[in-house]
Amino acid sequence: MQTISQVSELREQVNSWRTRGQTIALVPTMGNLHAGHLALVARGIAEADRVIVSIFVNPIQFVAGEDYKDYPRTVGPDLDKLAGMDTDLVFLPEMDEIFPEGLREHTRVTVPALDQLHCGEFRPGHFTGVATIVVKLLNLVQPDVAIFGEKDYQQLLVIRRLVSDLAIPVRIIGFPIVREQDGLAMSSRNHYLSEDERKQAPLLYATLKAMADAIMDGGSDYKMLEDQAFRRLQQSGFRPEYVRVCDAGNLGEPRNSDVVILAAAWLGKTRMIDNIAVQHYD
Ligand code: PAF
Repeated sequence: MQTISQVSELREQVNSWRTRGQTIALVPTMGNLHAGHLALVARGIAEADRVIVSIFVNPIQFVAGEDYKDYPRTVGPDLDKLAGMDTDLVFLPEMDEIFPEGLREHTRVTVPALDQLHCGEFRPGHFTGVATIVVKLLNLVQPDVAIFGEKDYQQLLVIRRLVSDLAIPVRIIGFPIVREQDGLAMSSRNHYLSEDERKQAPLLYATLKAMADAIMDGGSDYKMLEDQAFRRLQQSGFRPEYVRVCDAGNLGEPRNSDVVILAAAWLGKTRMIDNIAVQHYD
């Protein structure tokens, strides 16, 4: 497994694989890798001849006051985990390799409307930061496929949208959420949870699951289900930002049987997100 931090070296390696007719999968990450990330890498291995994992904690997707400084940086263990799989290359750029002119005047990519909804309401500018770095990584690597987790459901739709709008020649694969045994969606931010909070945390998924079951059983008063779930989370010590049933394709008002339940809630100093897609035919 090669570890490369320079864009020029990355391009050279990618070109040499391309010359040999090999296909490339990209798995963009911010590091602190867990089994969810490794599942994305395994999918990349299945999809292409070569797999590149990028590790870069992207400052511009953190909103003022968020955990950019505290975000867990665990490069050593991350590299060990990736070496244990068939990862070909880890791209580990320094800040000035990605933002050579600094952050302030760097070009930004915005996906309007979609970036204002749900998490976008509470993290203004977050999706512009994500879209910008993802476009940059896609341009640097020019992969055949790129793989993203469905835990960040809205992020995945933002990325699908920008790839379509900007005609970027890459296939985007969304990979199902990987959960702990008790249902908690795996996330690098789970490390912030105290012991007691960790015990409480699976209730977020349990709440969404109960909503999904109610919808599958014919429940169609989404507002009532959202309010009930919001209150249940509040009563259990969470500070929910939102719990919403949305159209699975555009995250607007549900139009048909294809919906996704999205939620974001704080537990102590940890912001958690989760979602469940529901297809109900009633
Ligand atoms: O999902 C993430 O880890 C990040 O948002 C991503 C896609 C790597 C961009 O920094």
